[in-house]
Amino acid sequence: ARITLRQLLDHAAEYGYGVPAFNINNMEQGLAIMAAADAVDAPVIIQASRGARQYANDVVLARLIDALVELYPHIPVCMHLDHGNNEATCVTAMQHGFTSVMMDGSLKEDGKTPADWDYNVNITRRVAEMAHYGGVSVEGELGVLGSLETGMGDKEDGHGAEGKLSHDQLLTNPDEAVKFVQETQVDALAIAMGTSHGAYKFSRKPDGDILAMHVIEEIHRRLPHTHLVMHGSSSVPQELQDIINKYGGKMPQTWGVPVEEIQRGIKHGVRKINIDTDNRMAMTGQIRRILAEHPEEFDPRKYLKPAMEAMTKLCKERFEQFGTAGHA
Ligand code: G3H
Ligand code: 13P
Ligand code: NA
Ligand code: ZN
Repeated sequence: ARITLRQLLDHAAEYGYGVPAFNINNMEQGLAIMAAADAVDAPVIIQASRGARQYANDVVLARLIDALVELYPHIPVCMHLDHGNNEATCVTAMQHGFTSVMMDGSLKEDGKTPADWDYNVNITRRVAEMAHYGGVSVEGELGVLGSLETGMGDKEDGHGAEGKLSHDQLLTNPDEAVKFVQETQVDALAIAMGTSHGAYKFSRKPDGDILAMHVIEEIHRRLPHTHLVMHGSSSVPQELQDIINKYGGKMPQTWGVPVEEIQRGIKHGVRKINIDTDNRMAMTGQIRRILAEHPEEFDPRKYLKPAMEAMTKLCKERFEQFGTAGHA
């Protein structure tokens, strides 16, 4: 059945677990997530970015979610808009059956310019007011994602802040977080503490200097009842880098967010953990392997099925690691 983000995260807070929010762009990713959820009895958050909506079409995505809910009636499904950038992208998601939207006002509409306080509060408050009339949940974001190592936003995949950012921008201020939640009435708050989107987050295994989990602990102390969200939370497993590179890929060595750091966050109010890159890599590794080992093959099912299975395996691992398993 469909569930809002608020309902799901309230339950997660009560029982002390976190919920991975997996991005989808197509049927294979939707089926892979649901197979994993079914196998371990976990509730799910499926999220679509604006790019995903353009790629798959809103109508196709909406019907796909209908189909997944019908196939797995016992699994609670929250359908969430990832990184909405204005009122219109949020409202049209609601019209297509999304039960939750992110209004990311940490950046201006262009997705590049860091926004000021008033812009972020005002647009997020407006979206929350509208969404709540329709029983839809809202995630806001305070602070800008980007690297504490380089000061750069995550531009590599075409979105994220442009230019050099200060530590002030890259780390959510706990006092401001309290004010932001009060003034906007968001159901969940995404915070910045050194993660960025994509595969290239850290040039070494992160420590507290470059992954500031202490910021989460401080925000949770001041906002014990607010559901916190970690973006850029792929772990970028070494095995997945190795498979991709073994079969012709060229990914320079990189580090993601270690699962144990996410588990530490879950102890301190983190309830939604956004993961896209790990699943992209899991699928791509298998597609590369099949095409390299069977160059005569051209039936997409021959490589998409192993790709789906690899994604299901990764999703199952995260459901188990975050304590989501068993809570459907
Ligand atoms: O926000 C980042 C997610 O990984 C979605 O990425 O905008 O390329 O679909 P995308
Ligand atoms: P990753 O790129 O680390 O998977 O992060 C995804 C994300 O935050 C989507 O909003
Ligand atoms: Na989101
Ligand atoms: Zn994100």
